[in-house]
Order: sequence, then structure tokens, then C-alpha cells
Amino acid sequence: MSGSRLMGIGTYRPARLVTNDDLAKRVATSDEWVRSRTGIATRRIADADETIVAMGSMAAEKALAAAGIDPTDLDMVLLATCTNPSQIPGSGPQIAHRLGAVHAGALDINAGCAGFSYALSVASDMVRVGSARHVLVVAAERLSDYTDWDDRTTCILLADGAGAAVVGPAPNQEIGPAVWGHDGGKAGAIRVPGYGDNLFRMEGQTVFRWAITLTPTVRRACELAGVEPAELAAVVPHQANLRIIDVLVSGIGATNAVVARDVVDSGNTSAASIPLAFSRILDGGQLRPGDPVLLFGFGAGLTYCGQVVRCP
Ligand code: UT7
Repeated sequence: MSGSRLMGIGTYRPARLVTNDDLAKRVATSDEWVRSRTGIATRRIADADETIVAMGSMAAEKALAAAGIDPTDLDMVLLATCTNPSQIPGSGPQIAHRLGAVHAGALDINAGCAGFSYALSVASDMVRVGSARHVLVVAAERLSDYTDWDDRTTCILLADGAGAAVVGPAPNQEIGPAVWGHDGGKAGAIRVPGYGDNLFRMEGQTVFRWAITLTPTVRRACELAGVEPAELAAVVPHQANLRIIDVLVSGIGATNAVVARDVVDSGNTSAASIPLAFSRILDGGQLRPGDPVLLFGFGAGLTYCGQVVRCP
């Protein structure tokens, strides 16, 4: 076995649903504005007990069950998050502890909204070189902890949730090579400044204009995997804005793909958005095991990462 594959995916969506009309009671916005500029109709906001560790663990339990893997068989737990409640400690080891992953290493990865794809790439390479046999990738976010509920330019976007995937060995390579990169010169475009301002700030137009230049990079992920865009069964871009998703998908010519539109119901859940959106398409029954699916994350850093994977 020299390949790696996705063995199972699981998610956790907070129970509480917040509509655009709910937000319009506090800031000067409207359902029409938010839907037409972002595609978002509702988002899930976590309650106090739906922590990063709780949501991440529940998503992970489902992924492990889908993969048929016991937590004691995990060699590594990677948590992608940019909304950990504190600087120290990270939440990855707490998720590993809660799961009973007693033989696993555990760490956090912060690559903003690209975090799931980065962590998946690291997990895949660990399995391929043999430093781990089974790796759990968790992406869990509570953006609501960092939301300025009086800032209409960001509070309408941000949401909470978690997704997880188990990566294990395979005869063939089912997790394609990652394309990744950054524009660290634009780091200030998405930030939680700290030093007295612990809330999410974004230059939305800067990020929008940057994101839609990434089309050639998205196409490159297909080339590296040896898959034509027209052969893709599904495309799962980071769920930030339907307008960005449409530009990226039409730009690469993924003419036959199911396109993830989970942002409509779930808002922007940063690193968790890709596994949440991917899982939703899988649950819809439109994909078969082995179908090629393009994942592509982009956001804070600024940073991006994507790859073509085969459906579990
Ligand atoms: O997940 C990390 C990656 N993040 C992203 O990819 C986000 C990328 N950016 C975006 O999705 C969009 O830039 C936004 C959705 C954030 C904003 O949409 P936009 O079409 O770029 O709007 P804008 O910032 O150009 O604002 C247009 C107008 C402004 O008013 P004026 O200056 O023209 O009078 C804003 O003040 O819309 C106003 N506005 C709003 N109006 C009603 C901004 N937010 C709202 C609002 N409701 N919620």
C-alpha cells in the first residue's frame, strides 16, 4: 500500500438557525441584500456548550464510524481551526483525548478557510510515507465568538460548525497532489487584530477580487490529479460567497459537476465549510465511491490549498 484515501466523513451542525431577517433587527441590512450579494439565507450559530472540542469530537465520531475505524487505531489527529478560544492550549489534543485516541499525536493547524485542504494534504502525505496509518482530520470553527454583531459587512457572513475525515492507506493514490500558495502581503485583509480588538475584520472587496483570480490554480489541481474539469463529479470550493463559487466553477469548465452550495443554508464556517459542504453532497446520494471531487479552500493568510479526491 503506497497510496492514501478518504475512508469516511462526518459533520456537526449547531442546532440554532439564524436568518437574515434576525440579523436585520440589529444592523442595517436586508434579506434581499444578503441573498443577492452572498447567496446566504441562513447560518448556524453555536450555543455555549457547542465548543470547538464538542463539535469537532461529534463530527469525528461520525467520520470514524463511517470509516469503520476505532479511535485507538488513530496515529494522528490534525485539527484545522482559526477560532480556537484561546492561544494556549490548542483544541486538537482535547479532541483526541475526548475520542480516546490514546496512541495518536495531536496538533492544531491554522490556515484560515484553507485549513481543511492543508490538513488533508499533510494527512495524506503522512499515510503515504508510512509515518501514520490512520489520520483523523478535523475542521471546527466558532466564528461567532469573534463576530462583531454590529458590523453589517461581516456579521451576515460568519457561522459555526465542524467536519471531519479519516485518511488511511490505499493501493492507489485517491487524494490528489495539493496546489497551495499564499499572498501573505495581503495578510491584513482578513484578521482578528488582537491587542484590544479581538473581533473579525475583513476588507471584503480585496478578498473577493483576490479569490476570483485563483481560477488557474484551481484548474492546476485537476491537472496534477490527471482529471479533466469536465470529468469532475463534484466541486466543493470554500463556502464564502455564491458569486465567488460561480466564477471559480465556470472558470475551470466543470460542466458536469454537482457544485456545493452549502453556504446558502450554513453561511461561512471557514475551515469547516469544505467537509460540511462535501458531506452534504454525499448525503444527497448524487455521487458514487471513486468519483473525482475537487476541493479548494481560500481565505485568511491570505492562503489557499486544493486537491482532487476520490469519494469514499
Ligand atoms: O472566508 C474567507 C474569505 N472571504 C471571502 O471570500 C469574502 C469575500 N468578499 C465578499 O464576499 C464580499 O466582498 C462581501 C459579501 C463581503 C461584500 O459584498 P460586496 O458586493 O463586495 O459589497 P461592498 O463591500 O462593495 O459594499 C457595497 C455596499 C456598501 O455601501 P456603499 O459604500 O456603496 O454605500 C456597503 O456599506 O453595500 C454596503 N453593505 C451592506 N448593505 C446592506 C455592506 N454590507 C451590507 C449589508 N447590508 N450587510
